[in-house]
Amino acid sequence: MAEQLSQEAMHNQSYQYIIETIIPSERRNQVYDFWRKDKVLAERCEFIAKLYQQYVDNPTAENYFISLLADYLLEGLYFYNGFIYFYNLASRMLMPGSADIFKMINRDELSHVRLYQRIIPEAMNTFTHSREQIYEMFDQAVKHECRWTNHIVGNNILGITEESTEQYTKYLANIRLRSIGLNPLYPDEKYNKSPYSHLERFSDTKKEAFTKANFFESSVTSYVMSSGVTGWDEI
Ligand SMILES: [Fe+2]
Repeated sequence: MAEQLSQEAMHNQSYQYIIETIIPSERRNQVYDFWRKDKVLAERCEFIAKLYQQYVDNPTAENYFISLLADYLLEGLYFYNGFIYFYNLASRMLMPGSADIFKMINRDELSHVRLYQRIIPEAMNTFTHSREQIYEMFDQAVKHECRWTNHIVGNNILGITEESTEQYTKYLANIRLRSIGLNPLYPDEKYNKSPYSHLERFSDTKKEAFTKANFFESSVTSYVMSSGVTGWDEI
């Protein structure tokens, strides 16, 4: 968990690095404050934040169990449509440096998912909980994630559609449920496969990942840092 905390701090730095290198300074605050103005984004964030807050305000065993599930949803479901966006761009040689950063964040998130895949089945044996409530939380998280992705990306990026977003998000929910010993929530056959399997070579964190231009081997030279965040230039 200490490792997870330090990685999350590094992810914040890397997001900041991307924002500061590609967004002009006068527009950066709009990015950081977007959640304050955008209702869909605020509601998506609040769904998870409220589950944590519930435990802070009323630290019962049941609320602790729910906050573990909230983390699992955050680590296992919430980030991935964002990663896919950058892998799609990278497949057309767009923003390969950012895709490289997201590839590493993706690797870290999957290690956090694995941690919770160990903790949650143990917690299910220890804490009283309702299975229906777990399925309901997953369904809610899927709805927020689809709603947000359709709102911010929609059908406007080649390779991503509202349909592929729904299929991918439900596919993720199914595999995350299976890996903690529960049944898939979306039984339709199409939700058993990812619509983005052709992008796996762009998300591969191992050296064998091969692309035509093999750009993950090259260093990022086109970003110029304005101030503050150091370290990423060496990647
Ligand atoms: Fe994480």
